[in-house]
Amino acid sequence: MPQIENHFAEVLHSERRYRELLTRWHAESGTKLGYSLIELTKIDGRPLYLLRPAELNDGPRVLVAGAFHGEEPCGAWGILKFLIEDLQRYSSINISFLPLVNPTGLDASTRVNYLGQNPNCGFVAGTKDDLPISTEGQVFVDHLPIISDLAKDGFISLHEDWEQTHTYLYTFESAKTPGRFTNRLLEALSKFFPILQDDSCEGASMRGGVIFNHPDGSFEDLLFRSGTRYAACSETPGAQPAARRIVCNAHVIKEFIGFFVTGDNDVSQGASRTRP
Ligand code: NI
Repeated sequence: MPQIENHFAEVLHSERRYRELLTRWHAESGTKLGYSLIELTKIDGRPLYLLRPAELNDGPRVLVAGAFHGEEPCGAWGILKFLIEDLQRYSSINISFLPLVNPTGLDASTRVNYLGQNPNCGFVAGTKDDLPISTEGQVFVDHLPIISDLAKDGFISLHEDWEQTHTYLYTFESAKTPGRFTNRLLEALSKFFPILQDDSCEGASMRGGVIFNHPDGSFEDLLFRSGTRYAACSETPGAQPAARRIVCNAHVIKEFIGFFVTGDNDVSQGASRTRP
């Protein structure tokens, strides 16, 4: 039987195929695991889904998002691989998903949506680009109380960088320097790809593959400002094979969740949260 990631790699830019596989997984397995698949809106006829536990337990609440940018497909496919192969192992934590944020961009293999808008910009007024918010972004802002609650403890947005053979990430922590959250994610990425060193990315400085607490008006920036304790945006390298990027993203999700379930953090201690 072929590896699931090889099959996914053949249909990377088919939103219809992604939707078929996601809805089939939900009908066959997701409902049994207590998951609701909610259509937040339609983007030019294609659903924008929120996948969440119908009822929340007392465990941490984390959110995973894929494919804000349509030419960065492997986060969305990594989420699907995780749902099919791994989700059932985690019952003590509330994991929600925005599995495919930019369905029209995925179909067209474009960064922007069908209206030419960047879905990961314009969430915080006065930051870098200060672009008007996208259609997808406005839906998230309209649902911010719910989404922010589902991401109360952690959020990760799975991106890719088409110009790169190396990997890196953005993180947000209430600290002056990157801590165990950042290190765990960096280690997860480094199992698959070399780490990009000391570059600068869109005006932000990078150290050891990490851009730390950079206020860029992205969705991760907004959620961190809204109370999410740990936020990240990972970047798998688009110049590497798609199947490997899919496997890497599924692994990154597991390590992201592992941070919250293994007591590696201060979430369960109720430590007071201060902005850096
Ligand atoms: Ni991106």
